[in-house]
Amino acid sequence: MNEISDRARRLAALGLTDWRIRPGGALEGAEASAVKTTVVTAHDDAPPEPIEHDLLGADVPETNTGTDGHVPPAAEDTSDLSGLDWDGLADWLAGQDHRGATQPVFGIGAREADVLIVGEAPGANEDEKGVPFVGRAGQLLDRMLFAIGCSRETNVYITNICKFRPPDNRDPTAAEIAADWPVLERQIDLMQPRLVVAVGRIAAQTLLNCKTPLGKLRGRLHQYPQRDLDVLVTYHPAYLLRSPDQKHKAWADLKIIARRIGSLASEAA
Ligand code: URA
Repeated sequence: MNEISDRARRLAALGLTDWRIRPGGALEGAEASAVKTTVVTAHDDAPPEPIEHDLLGADVPETNTGTDGHVPPAAEDTSDLSGLDWDGLADWLAGQDHRGATQPVFGIGAREADVLIVGEAPGANEDEKGVPFVGRAGQLLDRMLFAIGCSRETNVYITNICKFRPPDNRDPTAAEIAADWPVLERQIDLMQPRLVVAVGRIAAQTLLNCKTPLGKLRGRLHQYPQRDLDVLVTYHPAYLLRSPDQKHKAWADLKIIARRIGSLASEAA
């Protein structure tokens, strides 16, 4: 497959199929100029499901962040997880209060990967399977990753801020975030990623300890507080399913990931 058709195939996976080839071979259209005529994919045509978490990617007033948008203070639970390896950490989590969830959703993917994707919290499908991002939003996330030569099978690890499904799919509370925060921190210690990708507002504001709207955070690299680690913020795939006209912005964010980790050698990102 030549470079142009390979790129077209990757963009189509994301639902960005409005592209043309200029004389000379360069792409124009959705990728090149962020044209907002995203073609709705068959996937997006499916009848809408109950929204797992509202406002995941959308900008909301800073006074309406759901949680307070800040990394919670050190949890009262003083458990020291620093000696735990991956399996020990998963076992420790399984022994915690499930807060009404069926099971913990610890994470999935390549533990030695350069990229850690962090979502908000499991939804109903994830709660049932014990695996993050397996519903419609997860399928779109997989297609987004595919578009930049990444996958949970090979070179990314995926987890959430909260490891247990919040009842009724509501936003996680500050207490729930605080309870699970040490697990995420230990996962980062063990994994030592080069890049954390926060998908959605709650993940972004929690990881970056801020209340800045997602639209102002996305599109550039940030510093993970107290770590020598880059953070990229992008839209939550559940938001993109509801707002496919925003996919061109997600594509711009994805290209930052590809550039940072060199996952698309042939891509003129
Ligand atoms: N949304 C998230 O933020 N995480 C999941 O695992 C699934 C849906």
